Amino acid sequence: MTTRTEPGAPAVGDDLLRVRDLTIGFAGPSGTNEVVQHLDFDLPRGGALGIVGESGSGKSMTSLAIMDLLPPGARRSGSIVFQGAEITDLREPQMRAVRGDRIAMIFQDPLSSLNPYYTVGMQIEEAYRSHRAGVTRKAARKVAIEAMECVHIADAARRVDHYPHEFSGGMRQRVMIAMALSMEPELIIADEPTTALDVTVQAQILDLLTEIRQDTGAGLILITHDLAVVSEVADEIVVMRGGRLVERGPAERIFTDPREEYTRLLLDAVPRIDDEIGQLRTATVPVQIPEDLQ
Ligand SMILES: Nc1ncnc2c1ncn2[C@@H]1O[C@H](COP(=O)(O)OP(=O)(O)OP(=O)(O)O)[C@@H](O)[C@H]1O
Ligand SMILES: [Mg+2]
Repeated sequence: MTTRTEPGAPAVGDDLLRVRDLTIGFAGPSGTNEVVQHLDFDLPRGGALGIVGESGSGKSMTSLAIMDLLPPGARRSGSIVFQGAEITDLREPQMRAVRGDRIAMIFQDPLSSLNPYYTVGMQIEEAYRSHRAGVTRKAARKVAIEAMECVHIADAARRVDHYPHEFSGGMRQRVMIAMALSMEPELIIADEPTTALDVTVQAQILDLLTEIRQDTGAGLILITHDLAVVSEVADEIVVMRGGRLVERGPAERIFTDPREEYTRLLLDAVPRIDDEIGQLRTATVPVQIPEDLQ
């Protein structure tokens, strides 16, 4: 796998992505329902941004807008500049070249993104060849095996011929990350990539995302409802609620010194290390949002 950062070049430089005044709405019986409102954020080249918020806060709509994949009926305004180009100005063929190639997405449920009737190798090869005209099957297979090695799937040369059901949930997510990686994307958007996985596997996948980011220089947007997850991976965090930005700042600051009440409530739901037994204690009580904050 080639790396995109030059030796000695700073990993974090100018902006990879710049979002300004992003507003997304759906027409409803009583006017437009704005599910994302006036959102601003930046992602530096090689940076990692966490977008956190409860269900329905507009996280996925924001990422779909970046891919220009909003559902039919969605209205979008504002500006999304990816590597200096305004995404809204790109025509569909140009956008198709960006999607999957320069921006890769990883979703929560790898099983629904993988076709059960084809081996994982065939699917990685197919995805790769659809973005690289003229690549032979043999060359694509080599890329697939290398990508699987990159995500630490042992015995990749053999596993490449296995079907999705022959992998565990965590391994399937590695396959999806391998598929994304094979494209050498400049930006990886991971929408709740570890929500369906148990805690140990979740930690391994997060470590892998961090490793990939460091090795390839790709930018990362990690979307989750779980502040503990982003605090491990992101340098910058955007907290969203009801389509609006609640708070934005360096991950460490948000984690240690949240300015907004809502962020504090999200933090209260974060599992903490129990010193006595040295094990992860998962919060069993859901966060109660006080009436006045709803
Ligand atoms: N096709 C649609 N038509 C109308 N409203 C929609 C449509 N798709 C999503 N929405 C609304 O947009 C809002 C934001 O949805 P979004 O999927 O971005 O939330 P989210 O933060 O990703 O939540 P989750 O954590 O559950 O994935 C929700 O209130 C949702 O009901
Ligand atoms: Mg979502």
